[in-house]
Amino acid sequence: MVNLAILISGKGSNMGAILDAITSKQILEVDKVLVISNKKESIGLQVAKDRYRISTESITKDKKLSTNDFDKKIIHILKSYDIHPSNGLICLAGFMQILGSYIVDMYKHVILNIHPSLLPSFKGLHAQKQAVDAGVKISGCTVHFVENAVDTGPIILQKCVPVFDTDTEYTLSQRILIEEHKIYKEAINLFINKKLKIESNRVIIK
Ligand code: GRF
Repeated sequence: MVNLAILISGKGSNMGAILDAITSKQILEVDKVLVISNKKESIGLQVAKDRYRISTESITKDKKLSTNDFDKKIIHILKSYDIHPSNGLICLAGFMQILGSYIVDMYKHVILNIHPSLLPSFKGLHAQKQAVDAGVKISGCTVHFVENAVDTGPIILQKCVPVFDTDTEYTLSQRILIEEHKIYKEAINLFINKKLKIESNRVIIK
């Protein structure tokens, strides 16, 4: 059993896919679920409350707050919901606030992220636009363990998505998102079922 925290900032479609998978028992062995947003007004936060009726928290990082202190605030919330490194899983799902080394080290290899490109290509913001602009023929999405640099860490799953000549950032994003929803729940199941073994920078699926 794991206690799951999903961290969001926006519309939360990945969050919704994960929560649907839990509801429909495609993901088992999840005990408590918490959604944290760094934006009080995020649509995803409202959806988590209204549609899924699960616990939510919001925490904003104002400029005066150091990354370390922001991390500590998140850890405080996680612990208050019994989400610890030993029994927890933290899924970043469009969480637009960079976590610091304090929380990343404490919850080492317990934090997953989804990114809309085939990492290590096109890290950071607007990954789909970067792919369109670069003229690549294939892009996709990646679920990886979070380490101490943006969009880095051992890769768990990737899915390819073709880039068409007519694609815009929007159309490519939409097609990638469909695959994101599939591989995120697959990666979560692998994590929960202890099928992931990290060897150096490589994730071996047992
Ligand atoms: C997704 O494309 C995810 O890969 C990226 O941010 C987007 C979040 O979308 N990190 P949503 O809020 O899950 O719909």
